[in-house]
Amino acid sequence: MREVSAPSVSASYNLRVVKQFAIMTVVWGIVGMLVGVVLAAQLVWPEMTLDIPWLHFGRLRPLHTNAVIFAFGGCALFSTSYYIVQRTCQTALFAPGLAAFTFWGWQVVIVAAAITLPLGLTTSKEYAELEWPIDILITLVWLSYAVVFFGTIAQRKPQHIYVANWFFGAFILAVAMLHVVNSAAVPVSWFKSYSVYAGTIDAMVQWWYGHNAVGFFLTAGFLGMMYYFVPKQAERPVYSYRLSIVHFWALVAVYIWAGPHHLHYSALPDWAQSLGMVMSLILLAPSWGGMINGIMTLSGAWEKLRTDPTLRFLVVSLSFYGMSTFEGPMMSIKTVNALSHATDWTIGHVHSGALGWVAMISIGSLYHLIPILYDKPKMYSIKLINAHFWLATMGTVLYIASMWVNGIAQGLMWRAFNADGTLTYTFAESIEASMPGYYVRLLGGGLFFLGMIVMAFNVWRTCVGDVPARAPKVAAAER
Ligand code: HEM
Ligand code: HEM
Repeated sequence: MREVSAPSVSASYNLRVVKQFAIMTVVWGIVGMLVGVVLAAQLVWPEMTLDIPWLHFGRLRPLHTNAVIFAFGGCALFSTSYYIVQRTCQTALFAPGLAAFTFWGWQVVIVAAAITLPLGLTTSKEYAELEWPIDILITLVWLSYAVVFFGTIAQRKPQHIYVANWFFGAFILAVAMLHVVNSAAVPVSWFKSYSVYAGTIDAMVQWWYGHNAVGFFLTAGFLGMMYYFVPKQAERPVYSYRLSIVHFWALVAVYIWAGPHHLHYSALPDWAQSLGMVMSLILLAPSWGGMINGIMTLSGAWEKLRTDPTLRFLVVSLSFYGMSTFEGPMMSIKTVNALSHATDWTIGHVHSGALGWVAMISIGSLYHLIPILYDKPKMYSIKLINAHFWLATMGTVLYIASMWVNGIAQGLMWRAFNADGTLTYTFAESIEASMPGYYVRLLGGGLFFLGMIVMAFNVWRTCVGDVPARAPKVAAAER
């Protein structure tokens, strides 16, 4: 697909902020994944960080999740959404000053997180750990993002709003709502606050937020990337535009109800747990509708997969998306959850979504985008993209396969009883049985991380001028 409708060559887009976010995606990807590798190593050698409090597993873990989700994933989403909305609306970004504020504001949020979390300053709500002054800054940045994004849509030239923008729009609105509601807190000092919710209500609000952080932050926005970059890279139209509309409405309507599957067998009323389970099972349909729409976009262009590693990143990410959105509904069945909950199976599920889907689609999109942003005909080295592809794929497979084996072993060992009612295994024995899996996970994570270093090198060589620039006319038409 060239474009929904051809842009005017003279249109001047605001690419500065797109570039800034694109480069920071690579930087924060490396930082966040390095912390992930350290965590994986700590689970093999627990004493390796010499009991230094700032480097304890409990403090580095939220640093990792915040860095990979909000810094790496967030920068990828800002960058691609700002690019796509300009291209498909054929107009420059609305309020460029505010767009610049979103970049600098978001970087301040990330640096503040990187300082406060190792210091142990946390609300203790998973994925919403940051204390209230940082939460207020996040709200300001997010509102500015909404103004820039929807302002650009409002001043679009074509009447039509391309489907990628629907997904980005839903992601921006939902995250604003989730963040404000879940982070409502009473501050008692600059660095400490208490949630306004109590007990089970607090847990329910937290997992309504937590699951929709997955649904909207880690899914809807990345589907926006899919709907733009897969057709672009494959040079084919979206397989079914009608399916993309059904996909959109079904996904946003169902995701919001599935949160209680995180609270099975808890104090949450049983009917709410069952509702969460049923909605999670239904969620399989729109998720797979989207995956099929993305993969089938390659109809008639399958042979490109042999020679184009960027397209391979995009398509393999969709396969992992399909896998994790099959696995998730299965894990939400109460009896399955009784086995999987709190084991490494969950960690495997998380990373099949996080590495296989979120990271791979972002990496593929950036390999498409970076040369365009820097007026280069292609990336510095296609061979290095290929090497990165194999490192990332092998890394993800080793990571998730080892965690599945560990998770099932742990679940079975924890529920094994002797005839006299005593436990067959101690907890320590289950950890001992998990050690081989932890070594394999460290290897897989290490390979994935190495791939990011290869990417950084390739991006740097592309940007600093080793690749001759394209003729200005060609560059403008491509943009
Ligand atoms: C149809 C889609 C999905 C469903 C129904 C689903 C369902 C589930 C279930 C049942 C759990 C385990 C909850 C527990 O036992 O505590 C879980 C955990 C998780 N899932 Fe999914 N999942 C889906 C897709 C995804 C995707 C695509 C991603 C990532 C991109 C993802 C990220 C996570 C995370 C981060 C957790 C761990 C939450 C935590 O306890 O900290 N999920 N999911
Ligand atoms: C080199 C790559 C990575 C490595 C080695 C890695 C490693 C880890 C480790 C060791 C944990 C702690 C597991 C535990 O507590 O038992 C973890 C948790 C987590 N990671 Fe990663 N990670 C990587 C990349 C990513 C990426 C790219 C994302 C998201 C886009 C991500 C999202 C998460 C989440 C959400 C959790 C918490 C899961 C939960 O609470 O259930 N990770 N990671």
